[in-house]
Amino acid sequence: MSVAPVLARIDQDLDAALDRLFDLLRIPSISTDPAYKEDCAKAADWLVADLASMGFEASKRPTPGHSMVVAHYEGPGPHVLFYGHYDVQPVDPLELWDRDPFDPELQDTPKGKVIRGRGTADDKGQLMTFVEACRAWIAETGSLPCKVTIFLEGEEESGSPSLVPYMKENAEELTADVALICDTGLYDDKVPAITTQLRGLLGEEITVTGPSKDLHSGMFGGLAMNPARVLAKIVASLHDENGRVTVPGFYDGVPELSPELKAQWDGLGFDADKFLGEVGLSIPAGEKGRTPLEMLWSQPTCEVNGIWGGYTGAGFKTVLPSKAHAKISFRLVGTQDPHKLRESFRDYVSAMVPADCKIEFKGHGNSPASMMEISHPVFEKGRQALTEEWGTEAAFVGAGGSIPIAGYFKTYLGMDSALIGFGRDDDQIHSPNEKYDLECFHKGTRSWARILGEMGS
Ligand code: BES
Ligand code: MN
Repeated sequence: MSVAPVLARIDQDLDAALDRLFDLLRIPSISTDPAYKEDCAKAADWLVADLASMGFEASKRPTPGHSMVVAHYEGPGPHVLFYGHYDVQPVDPLELWDRDPFDPELQDTPKGKVIRGRGTADDKGQLMTFVEACRAWIAETGSLPCKVTIFLEGEEESGSPSLVPYMKENAEELTADVALICDTGLYDDKVPAITTQLRGLLGEEITVTGPSKDLHSGMFGGLAMNPARVLAKIVASLHDENGRVTVPGFYDGVPELSPELKAQWDGLGFDADKFLGEVGLSIPAGEKGRTPLEMLWSQPTCEVNGIWGGYTGAGFKTVLPSKAHAKISFRLVGTQDPHKLRESFRDYVSAMVPADCKIEFKGHGNSPASMMEISHPVFEKGRQALTEEWGTEAAFVGAGGSIPIAGYFKTYLGMDSALIGFGRDDDQIHSPNEKYDLECFHKGTRSWARILGEMGS
C-alpha cells in the first residue's frame, strides 16, 4: 500500500488535527498536583474516546495513581507498541507566561508558526503525531499497516510511580515486537533523529537543621551555626575544580565513549557556541577535557534544582534560619547504580554536617540510564522514513533527558524501543511559554505515517 495518499490526507486534515490537539491541550492534566486529579482523568477519557472513534479497542485503566490508557488495533505484520504521556508539568511561575498555559493558540513567530501552551511539545503534541498518523492510515485504507497497541501514561512528569507494577501485571498485553516512543527531539531544526541512549535520573532532597528555631542574626550570629552555611558548603563540595562530581564511587559504571560512537557524534558537527548562545551562555560547564556532546549525552551530572531557606521575600530580614533545603538531582549514564549512588551520596554529605546540626534526606525518583539495541530493523526503517520525510539524513543521537520507561520496556518486557520525536531545543518544555512548532506537528505526523508504512512492508 502506498503511503502517498495517507500523507495527502494528513495535509488536508491538518486544521482538524490541530482542533483535536487543542481540545486535549485545554485539559490541565498536571500529574504532580493533586488539585488536578480530575483533569488527569478527563485527559485520559478524552484520549480513550478519540482512539475508540478511530476503531481502536480503547480503555482507561485505573492504577493507584493516574490512569493508563491502553488501546489496540489489529493489523497485519509486526506488532508495535506506542508510548506517550498525557500528563504535563506544572505551569509556575505563571506570571512568566504570555497567555493562559491551557488556552492554546497558533502563533506566528519569526521562525514560523508555533502552537503555544503547556504540554504542546511535552508530550501531548508529540503523542498526537502518532495518533493522527494512525487516523490517516485508517481513514485512507480502512486499516493500519501493522498491529498497533497504544499505551499512554499520566504520571511521567511525576516519576511514573505506577508504571513498573502496571507493566509487570499487564506484561502479556503490553508486549509487542518493538516499542516506539515519541517524547524526544529532532537533532537540529531540520535534522530528524532517533535517540539511542538516554541518561538515568536520581533525585535527592536534603534538609539541614541548625538551631531549633529561626533566630536574630545579630543576637545569635557568630555563635550559632547557620544551616544555610552548612548547606552551601555541601553544595559547593559536590564538584571539584575540573567539574568532576566528588561523591565517592560516582564514576563506577561510567563507560568511555566507544571510538565508533565518538566518531559518529563528532560527525554531527554540534555547535556548542550556538546551543549555549541561545540561553545566554558561552562556556561549557562539564568536566574539563570532555566534548560538549559528551557533557550532554554520555557523562553523568549533579545539579541543584532548587535551594532555599531563611528569608526570601521582598526587602531584607536579618534572620539566622533554623533550616536550609536543597533539591539535587543526578543524571546517570552507563551502568551507574542509582541505589548505590543514593547511599554513597547520603554518607558523603552526612559527614560534612557539624555535630550539633542535623541532616534529613528524602528520596525522589530513580532510574538507570538506557542504551538502545540498534540492530532491531525498526532503526533502519525509521531512519529511512525520517530521511525521506525531512529530506536530510536522520541522525542517531544521545539525549541528556530521562525517559525511564525506555529501560523498563527492555527489563520487564524484553522489548527494544526506538525513540523518535520532533521537539526542538527551544520548545521550552517544563518552562513558561512552552511551544511546539506547527512544522514539527505536521511533519511528525507524516513521519509516523511513513514509519508505520515501512514497518508493515
Ligand atoms: N520528554 C522529556 C525527556 C526528554 C526531553 C528526553 C528532551 C529527551 C529530550 C520527559 O518528559 C522528561 O522531562 N523527563 C524527566 C524525567 C522524569 C522522571 C521527571 C526529565 O528528564 O527530567
Ligand atoms: Mn516528556
